[in-house]
Amino acid sequence: MNATQYVARKPDTNGVIHYSDEENAIWHTLIERQLACVKGRACDEYVAGLARLALPHDRIPQLDDINRVLEPATGWQVNRVPALISFDRFFELLANRRFPVATFIRSREELDYLQEPDIFHELFGHCALLTNPAFARFTHTYGQLGRDASPQDRGFLARLYWFTVEFGLLNTPSGHRIYGGGILSSPGETRHVFESDLPEFRPFNILDVLRTPYRIDIMQPVYYVLDSIDDLFAIAEMDIMAEVQKARGLGLFAPTFPARQDAS
Ligand SMILES: [Fe+2]
Repeated sequence: MNATQYVARKPDTNGVIHYSDEENAIWHTLIERQLACVKGRACDEYVAGLARLALPHDRIPQLDDINRVLEPATGWQVNRVPALISFDRFFELLANRRFPVATFIRSREELDYLQEPDIFHELFGHCALLTNPAFARFTHTYGQLGRDASPQDRGFLARLYWFTVEFGLLNTPSGHRIYGGGILSSPGETRHVFESDLPEFRPFNILDVLRTPYRIDIMQPVYYVLDSIDDLFAIAEMDIMAEVQKARGLGLFAPTFPARQDAS
C-alpha cells in the first residue's frame, strides 16, 4: 500500500482539533455539494440521522460533538485514528462500537476522488447511519466477527462490508435509496448509481455478496440491494461465518470489471 500523503490532526490539551481556514472551507464545499447531490437519493434513515447529527457547514466538526449524538442513540462513538490503521485495530475498534475516523480532510486537488477515507467520508458518509439501530447492530457484529477471523476469512468479510456499509442500497417504493457511505460521500458514485445505466443491481444475498470481487478504484459495476435497513438486523443474526466457509468452498465469481493495469 502506498504511504499516505495525509497526516491526521491531533487535538490540543483541551481536546480540540484546530483546522485551518482552508480545511474548513473544503469541508464547506464538500458538505454543501454532497447535500444537494444526495437529496431525494439517500434513504430516510440516513436523512433522519443527519438531522440528529446537525453537522456544521462552515467548519469541520469536533469528534466530541458527534459522540454526544451517537452515544445516547446506539452506544457508538467515533474514535480518532491515524490515516491508516491495521486490520487488527480496525476490527477491534468496531467490536467495541468505536468507528475509526482519521482526522484529516482531503486537499482541493482530490475533492472528487481519494482512496483514503478522510473525515468527510467518515462523518458525512457513515455517522448518520450509526444512529440507526439496525446499521449500528450490524456494524458491531461485523467488528466482532472480523476481530476473531483469520486473515483469509477477513478477505471474505471485507466484501460483506463493501457491499453494505460502503456501497449498500435499499429498495423503496420510490426507487433505490442509498445507505452506503462510499456512495453518500461521493458525487461521482451517486450520479453513477442514479444517472447511469452501467451498474447492475442485484438483490442482496449474503453468499453472493461474499463471493463478489470488487475494486476500490473504479465506479462500482455491481450493487447489492436490501429491501429495508432493518434487514441488517436479520443479517447480523445469521451465522455469517458459516456463509464465509461456504463462500470459500465455492470460490469467487468472475470479476465483471477489467483487471488493474498498474497491478504489480
Ligand atoms: Fe467508509
